[in-house]
Amino acid sequence: MIYFDNAATTALHAGVLEAMMPYLQNNYGNPSSIHALGRKSRAAIEKARKTVAKHLQASVGEIFFTSGGTESTNTALWGAVRNLGVQHIISSPTEHHCVLHTIHAIEKYHPVQAHFLPLLPNGHVNLQRLNELLTILPPGRVLVSLMHANNEIGNLLPLQTVSEICVKHNALFHTDTVQTFGYYAIDLSRIAIDFLTGSAHKFHGPKGIGFLYINHRHHIDSMLQGGSQERNMRAGTENLYGIVGLGAATELAYANLETDSRHIAMLKQYFMQQIKQALPQVTFNGDAEGQSHYKVLNIGFPPELQADLLLLNLDIAGICASGGSACSSGVDVGSHVLQALGVHPQSVNIRFSFSKYNTIAEIDTAIETLCNVLRKAATKPAPPLV
Ligand SMILES: Cc1ncc(COP(=O)(O)O)c(C=O)c1O
Repeated sequence: MIYFDNAATTALHAGVLEAMMPYLQNNYGNPSSIHALGRKSRAAIEKARKTVAKHLQASVGEIFFTSGGTESTNTALWGAVRNLGVQHIISSPTEHHCVLHTIHAIEKYHPVQAHFLPLLPNGHVNLQRLNELLTILPPGRVLVSLMHANNEIGNLLPLQTVSEICVKHNALFHTDTVQTFGYYAIDLSRIAIDFLTGSAHKFHGPKGIGFLYINHRHHIDSMLQGGSQERNMRAGTENLYGIVGLGAATELAYANLETDSRHIAMLKQYFMQQIKQALPQVTFNGDAEGQSHYKVLNIGFPPELQADLLLLNLDIAGICASGGSACSSGVDVGSHVLQALGVHPQSVNIRFSFSKYNTIAEIDTAIETLCNVLRKAATKPAPPLV
């Protein structure tokens, strides 16, 4: 099996599993219990919190564990509206659905106006428009929610620039770093961010665990009621082994960041070079050769390549890739990101996303498979028009 779907989820690191095992077996105490076993669990949670805080240059009191990126984003957006007086949310049409659907849900229940920024031709958000919009909206009443890296096309947002624009106009800033925490150094002592979301399963941690950073100046209500866990921010017995796994995955990701990022970036470059040589007709969606996440490559196969069954054939050949955002897989709807980019509706688009475990040999196999499948498709007569 060749796994090129690392923007959807990643393999659990062996060291993460090792760190989690004691908490799945012998150290099963409830972190709220005051006996020895409970205290052991509490200490493990606080150690993980310290790790996440350290790598964000934040304080431990600003980190809250949740079930993942989706819950963290929901908590931040609903909280900003309910508790911080937000009346306008500025976002972009290429955000993950955990942002877009949450904004639409909030609009149903609160007098909040949503504004979606236009995109530049390379898929980046038009920041000049952000600046203009913030000039006319009431200061102190706006939340800007923009993702650090797009999960489908990899486009990277300049966090520092957006943060400075928000500070200048007294707007709150939430950023979804689900695809970048564990892959890029993010220093919150230098970049002013109000809310930031992360998720363990994108960087070789377990699924169902993530975190929300809330700047210490803000107090918002919990999404869940029924317990005082996470300093009253998230009711329910903590996902102990998940939190331990998140801490271990964070430690490992940042300890090897330079080596791993160099390897993954090299794989992406190699894939781009090789596929351009083999199939010069393909295009890269987004700003693949510019400000782009080093693990994500979204390739457009134009209609003349007859690539309709390409993803299926890759799957049959044991190569896992994605036809858009993983979170919508299994649902037969087009990608809202590629639509917003104005990608040709008849083109076939496949996202390849890499990890430290991938190799050059795997890329060679994938490109050979792609070429074989497309060669076969080209020799078949086109179906009759109906
Ligand atoms: C950019 C982005 N945000 C949020 C999420 C949701 O994260 P989670 O799966 O932890 O809920 C994903 C998952 O695909 C994502 O790629």
